[in-house]
Amino acid sequence: MIIIELNQKKSFGRFILIGSYLLIVNLTSAYLAINLYRNNFGFEPTQSVQFSHKAHIEKYDMKCVSCHYFSIKSPSSGIPTTWDCMICHSALKNETELMKPVNYSYDENIPISWKRIFRVPDYVHFSTRLIQER
Ligand code: HEC
Ligand code: HEC
Repeated sequence: MIIIELNQKKSFGRFILIGSYLLIVNLTSAYLAINLYRNNFGFEPTQSVQFSHKAHIEKYDMKCVSCHYFSIKSPSSGIPTTWDCMICHSALKNETELMKPVNYSYDENIPISWKRIFRVPDYVHFSTRLIQER
């Protein structure tokens, strides 16, 4: 009888221990998940133009400033206008499916409505120095 009682007490203790461990793990992951969600982690909006940074920078060796030229003078790097794209694209073969919305924007004089990806609060000073150097 005594042995059984001891065993029961032990396993109850273990039950509490495992229980609280799981609770902590769950709360921690919930907290992390909420934080990632609030910070828009992995946010990848569908843009009206499928613009590839990778292609423009790696393949065509462009500098960040050539498009984000506000970063030279301003804490906000800005988004290039369709006119900036056309400095190159009016000379390139331009009639592809991917270029359609860009051409349309240029012909009709309607800016491309890029969805903003990052927004930092006003009290954050984001240095664009890195963009200037690349
Ligand atoms: C050919 C022009 C071009 C070049 C070169 C370029 N960008 Fe961009 N960048 C864009 C355009 C267009 C957008 C808006 C569309 C988008 O978000 O993809 C953008 C958006 C961004 C954004 C997201 C801004 C936001 O919050 O929505 C970041 C960050 C960025 N660029 C960083 C860089 C960096 C760093 C480099 C250099 C390594 C670079 N870009 C080079 C054209 C360019
Ligand atoms: C410095 C020159 C340059 C600038 C500026 C530039 N691009 Fe490009 N882009 C290229 C080159 C080169 C290609 C490859 C074209 C090809 O393969 O025929 C390309 C390819 C593309 C493509 C894919 C076209 C396809 O059908 O494969 C898109 C879309 C595009 N650019 C959008 C933009 C947008 C939007 C901007 C302005 C924010 C921009 N580009 C600014 C040089 C430039």
